[in-house]
Amino acid sequence: MRLTLAAALALMPIAAIAQDDPRLDAVAARQGYFKLLGANMGVLAGMAKGDLAYDEAQATQAGANIKALSLYHAPVHFAQGTSTDDLGDQTAARPEIWTDSAGFAEKFAGLAAAAAPLPEALAGGQDSLGPVVQSLGGACKACHDGYRAK
Ligand code: HEC
Repeated sequence: MRLTLAAALALMPIAAIAQDDPRLDAVAARQGYFKLLGANMGVLAGMAKGDLAYDEAQATQAGANIKALSLYHAPVHFAQGTSTDDLGDQTAARPEIWTDSAGFAEKFAGLAAAAAPLPEALAGGQDSLGPVVQSLGGACKACHDGYRAK
C-alpha cells in the first residue's frame, strides 16, 4: 500500500496545483475585483477616446463604481503563497507585493486618492473625462509597473 502511494506521488508533477486549491480562490477573487475596475475604466477610457458614444449617466455610474471599488479592502485577497513564484502563470501578482507590502498598500491609497473626486468630477460633461481617465490610469499604472507581472 505504502509503495503504491509513493509510486502514485512520484508520478505527480512536483509543482502541481490542484484545481480545488484554496489559493486559487483568493486569486479568482482579486482577479474578479480587478476585472470590475477594468470594465468601469473601459467605459470612461472608451468615451474619452471616442470609441464609445458619450453618455453622462453611464460615465457618472462608472465613476461611482470605481470609487466604491477603491474603498474596498482588496489586500485581504493577497494571501501568502499566491505570488507568481508559488502559482506560476495562474496569477500575475509579483512577489514584491509581499516583500514590500507597505509600498503595495501605498499604491492602493493612490487609487483611492485618484478616485476620491468621483463621481462629481465627471459632472462637467465630456471634457471632464480626459483628466479623470489620466489621473485614474496613472494610479493603475503606478501599481502595475512594480507589482504586476507582464
Ligand atoms: C495596488 C495595486 C494595483 C492597483 C492600484 C491596480 N491594480 Fe490592476 N492588478 C494588480 C495586480 C497585482 C494584478 C494581478 C492579479 C492576479 O493576477 O492575481 C492586477 C490585475 C489587473 C487586471 C487583470 C485581471 C484579470 O483578468 O486577471 C486588470 C484588468 C486590472 N488589474 C485593471 C486595473 C485598473 C483599471 C486599475 C485602476 C483603475 C488597476 N488595475 C489598479 C494591481 C493593481
